[in-house]
Amino acid sequence: MEGDGRSRDELVRRSAELDGVQLEEYRGSGRPEATASRGSRLLVLTCWIGGGLSALAAGGMFLFWPWHYVPPGEENHYLYTLYTPLLGLFLGLAVLGVAAALILTVKRLLPQEVAVQQRHLENGSSEEDRSVFVATVDDARDNAGLNRRSVFSRAALASGGILGTTLGVVGLGAFVRDPWETGPHAEPKDTLWHTGWRPQVGEKVYLRLATEPTKVELVTPADLEPGASLVVFPFREAEADDPEKLAKVMEQSDNPATLYRLPEDTDVAEWPERAGMNYGDYYAFSRVCTHLGCPVGMYETALDRAMCPCHQSQFNLADYAKPIFGPATRPLPQLPIDVDSDGYFIALGDFTGPVGPAFWLLGKQP
Ligand code: FES
Repeated sequence: MEGDGRSRDELVRRSAELDGVQLEEYRGSGRPEATASRGSRLLVLTCWIGGGLSALAAGGMFLFWPWHYVPPGEENHYLYTLYTPLLGLFLGLAVLGVAAALILTVKRLLPQEVAVQQRHLENGSSEEDRSVFVATVDDARDNAGLNRRSVFSRAALASGGILGTTLGVVGLGAFVRDPWETGPHAEPKDTLWHTGWRPQVGEKVYLRLATEPTKVELVTPADLEPGASLVVFPFREAEADDPEKLAKVMEQSDNPATLYRLPEDTDVAEWPERAGMNYGDYYAFSRVCTHLGCPVGMYETALDRAMCPCHQSQFNLADYAKPIFGPATRPLPQLPIDVDSDGYFIALGDFTGPVGPAFWLLGKQP
């Protein structure tokens, strides 16, 4: 019996009458058919638990899986390649599980009714209206087995909680560590910050031509006429006898640079912070477009412009490769260069900024 002495079933039906509702079909709490089948309950429970476990797996993967890039052929490369697909799979299963559980709860556990209701425009709800509404909601909840302490409620709470936590961790996780941060996290293996041009202590990194991987040809100033350019890759003497490393250097996507020799009368803009990064008329810039990463493979000598064929971005070489046309918004990072005592071009350090479309640093990098 409910608050005013009537049974809940009576109140539910009275609720319908008060609202001018005609119940064509209703499975009330006292009827045998109101109880959902054991199979339905089991199915809903399975979905909740499955969704929760999948969310847990996705969260665990995000936090603990070895996601750092591992080149092909090296140990754990296989684990690295599984990271993204498995994370997507578990997140997808988690959302699917929770969605399926919600849909099945409504379709199979909540009371089914067919009712016709007339609209009415009364202000506020009477005491009786409120009583019958509460009874209706309680009735639906009990029929569905969703008591506060039922296994369904607990499964739903746990599953929803885990999924919410996982989505929060995944959403915020990317902000926890800045991939460009210098300091303790800037390890040499951090490939987001460093390229193959980064010299180790006391090491000389030469500019080599883009020839066959095992055939190393260094570059001298005499190799370039004014208004000409060359594609170059990094070479270190320690790798001279290692064909595998020589080949890998040419496969690393952020390594390619272009060495330009500007015409002698070129009026180059003043960038004090770039002083000493060029060798006379020779300038080296990343070959990877800062729009979407295509090779900036064209050099229009008469206009001092490097051009990307993909979406026609143009970079002004007389202004440190500043974009002046097209969708690219960031200059091509410059490679500081010099010529050593033997007459070969060497790199004095890594590029001046992140290579390629590093969109999250827009406005921060020159
Ligand atoms: S990738 Fe170079 S302009 Fe789009």
